[in-house]
Amino acid sequence: GTVFVVAIDGPAGSGKSSVSKEVARRRDYGYLDTGAAYRALAWHALAHEADTSDAASVIDILGDFDYAISLDPDAYWVRVGDTDVTAAIRETRVAEAVSGVARVPAVREAANRLFRQLIAESGRAGVVVEGRDITTVVTPDAPVRILLTAAPEVRAARRSAEVTTQSAAAVAEALHRRDAADSTVVDFLTAAPGVTVVDTTELDFDQSVDAVLGVIATVE
Ligand code: C5P
Repeated sequence: GTVFVVAIDGPAGSGKSSVSKEVARRRDYGYLDTGAAYRALAWHALAHEADTSDAASVIDILGDFDYAISLDPDAYWVRVGDTDVTAAIRETRVAEAVSGVARVPAVREAANRLFRQLIAESGRAGVVVEGRDITTVVTPDAPVRILLTAAPEVRAARRSAEVTTQSAAAVAEALHRRDAADSTVVDFLTAAPGVTVVDTTELDFDQSVDAVLGVIATVE
């Protein structure tokens, strides 16, 4: 049958990844982190010393981009070729290059085809898919579509609690810069019609998970 898709969009620091993963565990669904695909391509581009601000250079290295991702929320990994890049794609240098590759239309088209295939072949009853354009572009017909948000200062504080190698101010600045760059490609700060907003500013992790599970319960 068809896979039940829970589409979750939102900016960095909204709790999107950790909440999506936990919701997938609780429902026994797959978990698809679409940002990881863009990050993996940015990692691949850096490994080939491609200019990630130049679309032609990015398209050049797309040809031999061999990428795999686990949809198991309890065994999450990302690979490029034979290399496990699960940790490497979180590095600052990758975060700084990712908006450049994600902005290339040919990249987004290839990524979207791959995402839809991964969902269809997940082997699970449902998949929680998180990113920036899932509710609007990747799976606009998903039965559950959520925009997970939080106030900018809360997002920056959460991200700087994760990133211990930089000052809080540097983390906030980098987050703001990436959001601004990403916003020129997809509007992930405004809910499209039919998308439920879950604002986690005042919610802790468990409350955020319950809020998303609550939205899913309303459509079952
Ligand atoms: O979610 P995460 O912060 O890991 O995403 C990394 C980057 O991938 C984003 O900054 C954005 O440039 C890109 N992205 C995207 N569309 C998605 C998911 C991520 O453009 N659906």
